[in-house]
Amino acid sequence: MEKKKKILILTGGGDCPGLNAVIRAISKAARQNGNYEVWGSIEAFNGVMKDQPEIVKLTRRRVAGIHVKGGTILKTTNKGNPLKYPTQLEDGTWTTRDRSDELINKINALGFHAVVNIGGDGSQTISQALFEKGLNIVGVPKTIDNDLSATDLTFGFTTAVQIATESFDRLVTTAESHHRVMIMEVMGRDAGWIALHTAIAGGAEICLIPEIPFDLKFILRKIKKRYNKGRGFVNIVISEGAKPVGGSVTGNLAKVKGDLHIKLGGVANQLRADLEAAGCQSQIRTTILGHTQRGGTPVSFDRILATAMGVKAFELIDNEDFGKMAAFRNNRVESTTLKEAISQYKVLKPDSYLIRTARTVGVSFGDK
Ligand code: F6P
Repeated sequence: MEKKKKILILTGGGDCPGLNAVIRAISKAARQNGNYEVWGSIEAFNGVMKDQPEIVKLTRRRVAGIHVKGGTILKTTNKGNPLKYPTQLEDGTWTTRDRSDELINKINALGFHAVVNIGGDGSQTISQALFEKGLNIVGVPKTIDNDLSATDLTFGFTTAVQIATESFDRLVTTAESHHRVMIMEVMGRDAGWIALHTAIAGGAEICLIPEIPFDLKFILRKIKKRYNKGRGFVNIVISEGAKPVGGSVTGNLAKVKGDLHIKLGGVANQLRADLEAAGCQSQIRTTILGHTQRGGTPVSFDRILATAMGVKAFELIDNEDFGKMAAFRNNRVESTTLKEAISQYKVLKPDSYLIRTARTVGVSFGDK
């Protein structure tokens, strides 16, 4: 009997509902094919990098039913970039080192034929670099932010929008009861997809996104218009990466131990303070949804998209079509090169049909 080829799967960067559905789909496709066995590296590439590799065989039992579960059974990290691996120096300070050759040698020594890297923009940039160094690797895109240009949608996004919309609906009724201004902050570092979809689905009066810097005077004007003799209410949805004209984003701009992320958060509170300082008479309350948008069970669409992407990743490996990434385009899952996938962000264009739709139903973007 011919020896089975080994596939290694890993999940990197922030987690996202649907990751487990991808892992299950690749495992099932491989089992049905019969010529492969599938393994997982715990905590992205860190599992392989360890002196005692932390890798697990993805048996039928291990993946059974996991497609309905949030998170990732393989765990994840955004501190394990093999090209810039965080390393502590003797004096206690931190630096980064390129350990990619060592990583590739380890993957080969462990007998892996191919790797599936499930991750966002940062992870796929790593995939491309490893591919250029000769590793048989394919990518599966992941991010709730939906900001990868090579795919119309990423799994996890629809779940995040659903969670945000449900929360928004709850805030609308309490805003109405108390005649308040409610500001709800959602994720979205560079792109306002979650905010825009939530604003349209929930019927927001104001939607503030990274792509359209806002001006406080237009927000105040909109709020004033909604109040009549002290009665009225306003619901605002704001992306964590939104900023005023000429201003900067709100958050903790420090980098810690080679952490790739600059931590955003708190723009809702900043906006509340700015509105109050500018004389806004209405009571204002803020809600920051944070990681509730990333946790929990994926909605059915995301389970389906993630499963189809997992199957596509397996097909790419079986066809020896490396350096590619699964992508959802024009209502079907196909593939694109990793190179193209990482070439640009997918941000909202101010003249896009969805922004026009929102404006037409009365949503203000705080820019006029
Ligand atoms: O990129 C996805 C994302 O959810 C962003 O929207 C958010 O800013 C970031 O991850 C949060 O990262 P972390 O979980 O590391 O705080």
